[in-house]
Amino acid sequence: MIERIAALRAEAEAAVAAAGTSAELEQLRVRYLGRKAELPNVLRGIAQLEPAQRGPTGKAANQARQALDALIAARGEQLAGGELEQRLRADVVDVTLPGRPPQPVGHLHLLTATRREIEDVFLGLGFRIAEGPEVETVYYNFDALNHAPTHPARDRLDTFYVEGAGDVVLRTHTSPMQIRAMEAQPPPLYVIVPGRVYRRDSDATHTPQFHQIEGLAVDEDITLADLKGTLLAFARAIFGPDREVRLRPHFFPFTEPSVEVDVSCFMEHSARPPQRCRVCKDTGWVEILGSGMVDPNVFGYVAEHGYDAERVQGFAFGMGIERIAMLKHGVPDLRLLYDNDARFLEQFG
Ligand code: DAH
Repeated sequence: MIERIAALRAEAEAAVAAAGTSAELEQLRVRYLGRKAELPNVLRGIAQLEPAQRGPTGKAANQARQALDALIAARGEQLAGGELEQRLRADVVDVTLPGRPPQPVGHLHLLTATRREIEDVFLGLGFRIAEGPEVETVYYNFDALNHAPTHPARDRLDTFYVEGAGDVVLRTHTSPMQIRAMEAQPPPLYVIVPGRVYRRDSDATHTPQFHQIEGLAVDEDITLADLKGTLLAFARAIFGPDREVRLRPHFFPFTEPSVEVDVSCFMEHSARPPQRCRVCKDTGWVEILGSGMVDPNVFGYVAEHGYDAERVQGFAFGMGIERIAMLKHGVPDLRLLYDNDARFLEQFG
């Protein structure tokens, strides 16, 4: 009997040492120490043995059981440790990875994207970006920009006046920043000014609030040729490398001479007739902005800031960001830009 116990013990010890997983080890525990296993049976049957054998057999069986118990426990801890490590490795989470948002992050609004595109062109040409107040005084919005006291834009039917604030308006254009920029810095000055402007106007091509980008260059020996070259570079960057620009005489109070600037039509024209081009109406040209040489009277308002009309010249321009975006992307109704309909916005990722 004692030999059998020794053999069982050796067999079990070898099996436990070879167990590869906690589950396998548990099976071995049941096989060697479980209720129906041989060793516990021996222990239960001690009383039936010859009295002389009871002592040594019981001792051997007990020792074997205790040794196996300890071995299984030790092996169990070993296996559990290894398995935990494996699970940790498999479940590893890199907390430095960017999160996965439940919704796609989206993209810039067409107006913002267009503004940045235009800004980039002028930054590349050496202009700086400045921003100014949307609530503006009549002085900056009209007077210092050489508007006659009777100029129709001053009318309360066209311009939002701030009630009870004296001569204060919501700026009707970004041009007042021409004056503020010159007050802030002597020439040479190359600046563009993006921003919101306000007019009492509302239909398919006008909203009471819209966006403009103003441009102002003041230096010695600036001519209309510089204006045309600058706007040609702009038109080609935005509407394509084959574009041309055309200057048409016009009137603005703060530039002399003043021009409206057209870009050659960028649509495919091969399909006509019978349909007229929806962008240029078959004229071949599309108006994109107002511009001109800074009127010496305007320099008169900033003479004490180093702007001597005898010494410096300048050109200025102003464009509507909505108009540029609509022309470039074929947007048929200005209001689409403000409706926040995702089906529209998603087209301009
Ligand atoms: N401020 C004018 C407008 O809102 C646009 C404009 C015309 C700006 C000529 C200029 C310019 O700087 O020189 O209609």
